[in-house]
Amino acid sequence: MGSKTTLQSHVSEEDNNDSMATAQTPTIPLLTPYKMGNFNLSHRVVLAPLTRQRSYGNVPQPHAILYYSQRTSNGGLLMTEATGVSDTAQGYPETPGIWTKEQVEAWKPIVDAVHAKGGVFFCQIWHVGRVSNSDFQPNGQAPISCTDKPLAPQIRRNGIDVAQFTPPRRLRTDEIPGIVNDFRLAARNAMEAGFDGVEIHGANGYLIDQFLKDQVNDRTDKYGGSLENRCRFALEIVEAIVDEIGADKVGIRLSPFADYMESGDSNPNALGLHMVQSLNKYGILYCHVIEPRMKLAYKVFECSDSLLPMRKAFNGTFIAVGGYSREDGNKAVAENRADLVAYGRLFLANPDLPKRFELNAPLNKYNRDTFYTPDPVLGYTDYPFLETA
Ligand SMILES: Cc1cc2nc3c(=O)[nH]c(=O)nc-3n(C[C@H](O)[C@H](O)[C@H](O)COP(=O)(O)O)c2cc1C
Repeated sequence: MGSKTTLQSHVSEEDNNDSMATAQTPTIPLLTPYKMGNFNLSHRVVLAPLTRQRSYGNVPQPHAILYYSQRTSNGGLLMTEATGVSDTAQGYPETPGIWTKEQVEAWKPIVDAVHAKGGVFFCQIWHVGRVSNSDFQPNGQAPISCTDKPLAPQIRRNGIDVAQFTPPRRLRTDEIPGIVNDFRLAARNAMEAGFDGVEIHGANGYLIDQFLKDQVNDRTDKYGGSLENRCRFALEIVEAIVDEIGADKVGIRLSPFADYMESGDSNPNALGLHMVQSLNKYGILYCHVIEPRMKLAYKVFECSDSLLPMRKAFNGTFIAVGGYSREDGNKAVAENRADLVAYGRLFLANPDLPKRFELNAPLNKYNRDTFYTPDPVLGYTDYPFLETA
């Protein structure tokens, strides 16, 4: 599906021609074009999904137009922040949804603004599962999960607040098709809002990841136990969405190696491999995987595990993310370890990140204090562009 690139293809014919070589700066691997299915991307620097907690009442707000369009380049790929599939999907204040007509309408001008600048825009669809408490749930009910095992309270990233989680209610087997259907409807709504496709959020300890990981999933029905059974929920969602909108518009995010929200697995290599081999049967567009070195959120640990076996086994476009700099993003593309590289914190703080990479310009530093401030709307849209830096 995707065109795999090797180092040779970044050294253009012209680089061997003296007259051209003096006239042109050689293109760095990250800034070479790439054909992802039907999408002609002009470069490989992807905006990673970034939750910003400023979609009041779960409705995207007009200020998101500025945030996303600032980060749009012609032929660049962007993912939205995680976006809830239903009224049971929330676990954080003021995160957007895509299950009501009002939410779909609110996304439209944001999508239009990205398209007006030539961007390719995927909506990351999400259910938090047990990473929630009853305050976020309809009628104050317990959050749902594959399990009834509770999460321990956690210090939030501001280092002060403590997130409390209500013990979840284990979904009955006969309820699971309903949740799969929520994902299907969310994907349909995303297309109605004008998105180019959806990214299924199967990472970071949220509902799908809770089913995937043996540290969390303690079910004894067909959704628990063996690797095949633990992957069943994720793959039923993939199948439902592929049937609804077409495989060429479907991506998935996975983090087999990560332990976020007490969601470790005893054999992440086998889990990752089984998932990509199963995904091949559906022919989905891309797989977006978090590096093993990001075992804990936002902290890089060097480790011997690698995404290479998953990359080699997957037939579609492979996107890597997690702790990438300009230099090692270039290396990953040049060595064919990834087709595209997603950037979270660097893109957050540098709206013109592809341009800065092109010029090897200095980068703005991100300000952690404004990652999750719902009001006033600070951070994200006030980082300077290169010209004004
Ligand atoms: C403020 C913030 C919000 C994030 N929100 C999401 C999200 O909504 N969905 C998701 O899959 N990952 C989310 N992440 C993880 C990033 O997409 C990315 O995987 C992570 O930051 C590691 O990449 P980086 O080293 O380039 O920042 C978030 C990260 C940050 C810093």
